[in-house]
Amino acid sequence: MILQHIEIENFRNHKSTSFDCSSGVNLFYGDNGEGKTNILESISYFCLTRSFYALSDSIVAKADENGFTATGCLKSDCGVQYEVQIKYNRDINQKIITVNKSKVDKASALIGWFPAVILSQEQGAITYGSPGDRRKFVDFVLSQSSRKYLDNLIEYRKILKQRNRILADIQTGRIRNKEEVEVWNESLIKTGTSIINKRKEFTKNFQKLVIEAYSQISGNSELPKILYSPSFNCSEENEDNTEDFFKKALENQSLTEQKIGFTMVGPHRDDFLLQINEMEAKNFASQGQHKTLLVALKMAEFFYLKNACNETPLLLLDDVLSELDEKRCNKLIKSAVCKGQVFITSTDKHALNGLSPDVIANVRKYLIKRGRIERVEEEAKIN
Ligand SMILES: Nc1ncnc2c1ncn2[C@@H]1O[C@H](COP(=O)(O)OP(=O)(O)O)[C@@H](O)[C@H]1O
Ligand SMILES: [Mg+2]
Repeated sequence: MILQHIEIENFRNHKSTSFDCSSGVNLFYGDNGEGKTNILESISYFCLTRSFYALSDSIVAKADENGFTATGCLKSDCGVQYEVQIKYNRDINQKIITVNKSKVDKASALIGWFPAVILSQEQGAITYGSPGDRRKFVDFVLSQSSRKYLDNLIEYRKILKQRNRILADIQTGRIRNKEEVEVWNESLIKTGTSIINKRKEFTKNFQKLVIEAYSQISGNSELPKILYSPSFNCSEENEDNTEDFFKKALENQSLTEQKIGFTMVGPHRDDFLLQINEMEAKNFASQGQHKTLLVALKMAEFFYLKNACNETPLLLLDDVLSELDEKRCNKLIKSAVCKGQVFITSTDKHALNGLSPDVIANVRKYLIKRGRIERVEEEAKIN
């Protein structure tokens, strides 16, 4: 898909910014703190209905205003035109989402229509960080590609919260009836099993894409792997047994759970192991291997979403060009520019100069200053 036009009002430090986008590469450059990332953040509202990093909408609204509006005009791969608008009112903490002027009831209903792949510095945590960072990555990809997965995830979190609250009360002695926990087991197992089975299927399919992307960047001498590591033993191949294994694991942990006051097993405790040549990346990979793996994961994400959503995702690169080298950047951007669009921020106006001309076409450069677009330059070719 192509994002053709953006209008933001009272969005972070942007009072009123509106512009047409290039269908190829869009580079926002300027000094630190001028409002470049804020533009990418507004794009994440069109695609995900929320910020890709802020925890609440209220901090996104301009400091002295009581809300923001973000409007994007998008054209899908098959040529359908959409106007997506997010209107947030801080006074009553209300967010209204409309598509072609019709109100969307639930934010989750929009997710997956306009997929996006985001690479920012924080995402280094996928290969370096904790299991939670990797779960977040997988949940992010799967939520965009499957409405059912997202619904299950939302439901599972609600159930888990209730169950943990009771366990905490048992731990402190406020509740004595242990059966109150068990009331939640059935729904925890049901939604949890759907999540686990989807993660099993995902890892198998995603693995192929990661291998392909990794070999494109660094040849065939290294073999990357993504392995699903659920919080309890269950066969990777067989989906039918997950429910039974989950049930057993809960039974086994029951006393410990009451002692420590939270749910010990389930998808909220899963991990996804990332390996290079059978060695765990987190502990053994070099800095270069980490970067290659991260870019390969992002390329895999791009192709996975393109296929699952039937729509070419947008690629958003926030201040990462200087981190990755030209070869990795070329490969990553090339994934997106065939039918899609790239949005890049950098402090360097010439950040794209080292990239190969066939990868970088239709470049539009925007100088961002104090929450405004100061200048726009069109460059058919770099250099
Ligand atoms: N809610 C807000 N209201 C007004 N200004 C904000 C708000 N949130 C962030 N800012 C300002 O936005 C600027 C940072 O924008 P950002 O897009 O992250 O900069 P960069 O160009 O470095 O990517 C800072 O000057 C910050 O003070
Ligand atoms: Mg920034």
